Amino acid sequence: MSHRNIILIGPMGSGKSTIGNIIAKRLHRDFQDSDHFIETRTGVDIARIFDIEGEQGFRDRETNALTELLSENNRVVATGGGSVLRTQNQQLLKQKGYIIFLDTSVNQQMHRLRRDKKRPLLQTENPRERLELMFTERRPIYLDLADLAVKTDKRMARRLAADIISQLPENLK
Ligand code: S3P
Repeated sequence: MSHRNIILIGPMGSGKSTIGNIIAKRLHRDFQDSDHFIETRTGVDIARIFDIEGEQGFRDRETNALTELLSENNRVVATGGGSVLRTQNQQLLKQKGYIIFLDTSVNQQMHRLRRDKKRPLLQTENPRERLELMFTERRPIYLDLADLAVKTDKRMARRLAADIISQLPENLK
């Protein structure tokens, strides 16, 4: 099982890419970020995909990206915050890797995303309300999928990554 992937799930602004990158470097694994992969593939940013194809179109691309990224082994993969909504993706993630949930409060998200212009779902009058709705809907799914859940609030990325690595099953280190 040592060739399994390590998959990071959690809401926007939970640090999936930052933490994933550090974990991958420390464990000498390839790091991939689902949103980044989609942007490279399409040549446009996520906001543009939402504009042209709507959220549904983006979600289809996300499912395809995850399927492709997780067809390899030994990777660390950062997922988009909404990728856990589809049952198909949930099954894929469970089958293809060890799942780490970065559990982040809405306050922390607000702080980290306060200048964000890239995330289409936050370009609303009231981003806090939107984040709270997503938190309520998605957190139970994240918790259900997680092999390991870690609180991220007010913690340095490097320390958090080291803490996660120390909690990984031996065959993943
Ligand atoms: C989304 C999260 C984003 C990105 C898109 C939608 C979501 O990824 O996939 O804007 O539905 O929560 P991050 O979690 O990397 O911000």
